[in-house]
Amino acid sequence: MTLLFLSDADRAEWWRQELGRRVPGLDMRVWPETGAREDIEFALVWKPPKGELARYPNLKAIFSLGAGVDHLLVDPGLPAGVPICRVVDRALTAQMSEYVLLNVLRYHRQRPAYARQQAAREWRPLKLVQSSERRVGILGMGVLAQDAAAKLIALGFAVAGWSRSAKSIPGVESFHGPDGLAPFLARTEILVCLLPLTPDTEGILNAKTFARLPAGAALINAARGGHLVEEDLIPALDAGQLSAASLDVFRHEPLPAAHPFWGDERITVTPHVASITDPRSIADLVAENIRRARSGEPFLNVVDPARGY
Ligand code: NAP
Ligand code: GLV
Repeated sequence: MTLLFLSDADRAEWWRQELGRRVPGLDMRVWPETGAREDIEFALVWKPPKGELARYPNLKAIFSLGAGVDHLLVDPGLPAGVPICRVVDRALTAQMSEYVLLNVLRYHRQRPAYARQQAAREWRPLKLVQSSERRVGILGMGVLAQDAAAKLIALGFAVAGWSRSAKSIPGVESFHGPDGLAPFLARTEILVCLLPLTPDTEGILNAKTFARLPAGAALINAARGGHLVEEDLIPALDAGQLSAASLDVFRHEPLPAAHPFWGDERITVTPHVASITDPRSIADLVAENIRRARSGEPFLNVVDPARGY
C-alpha cells in the first residue's frame, strides 16, 4: 500500500507516524519525492498542482484534506474515474455550527449597534426581537448546514434552507433550485452561506442577491471566498441593503493587508478558521477508506465530480 502525501511538507512526518500507526505497512511518499509513480495507489492532498494527479496510473482514490473539494475539481486534468473522498467529521461539523451560532446571535442581539453605542457612552436600549421572529436563511442544506439549522431551531429561530434538491427537514422551511432562491431570500434577515463552491454557486453572493434580501440584512459567509463578489459587498453596506457581514473565507487567502474589508467596522474578518478538522480525524478516515479498498467495500464520503460536491 503506497500513499502519496501532497500538502504542507512540514507536517509530513506527523502524517507518516499517524497513518503508519493506523495502516501497518503503509509506504508514504512525500511529494515531490514520489519514487516510481506506478507505485502510488492513494493520494492525500490539499490544493495539488493542476495535472499532477493524472501522473499516477494506478491511483485508486484521492483523499481531500478538507470538507470542500473545489481545490481538486478546478483541475481539468483530474484523472477520470478515480474516486474522490472528502472529510465529513462530527467535530468539524460542530465547530461550524459554533461559528454560525456565534454570528447569528451577534446580529440577532445587535452587538455591532451596542458596540457603537458603548464607544459613544450612549445608554439606549434597542428593540428586542424574539428569536421566533428572526428569520435566518442558510444557503446549502448539506452536512454542515443541517447541523447548524438544528441548533438554530433549538434556540427558537425561524430557519429556512436552500438546496439543489427538494428537502423535508423538520422545522426548516425548505426552498430549492433556481426558482426557490428569490422567495428564500425575500424572507431572510440573516443569510448564512454553507454551499460548496461549484460553477453554479460561484459569485452567488452578489448585488442581485443582496437586493432580494430585506433591507438591513446581515451576511455570514463560512463557505468559500469564491461565493462572494467582493466588489458588491461594500456598496451594499453603504446603501444599507446589508447592515453587516461576517466573512471567514476570501478569494485571496491570506486576505491582503491592503484589502478594504480589514478596515471596515461593518465587516468581521476571520482567517478561514470557522471550522478546522482535527488531523487525527482525517487520519482515521483515510485509514478506514484504505481498509475499505483492501476489503472491496465502498469508500466513505465520495463526491460526485459532475455535480461538483
Ligand atoms: P455538503 O454536505 O456537500 O452540502 C452541500 C449543500 O449545498 C447541499 O445541500 C446541496 O444541495 C447544496 N448545493 C450545492 N449546489 C447547489 C446549488 N447549485 N443550488 C442550491 N444548493 C446547492 O457540504 P458541507 O459538508 O455542508 O460543506 C459545505 C462547504 O463548507 C464545503 O464545500 C466547504 O467549501 C465549506 N467549508 C468551510 C469551512 C471553513 O472553515 N470555512 C470548513 C469546512 C467546510 P443538495 O442537498 O440538494 O445536494
Ligand atoms: C475547509 O475549508 C474545508 O473545506 O475543510
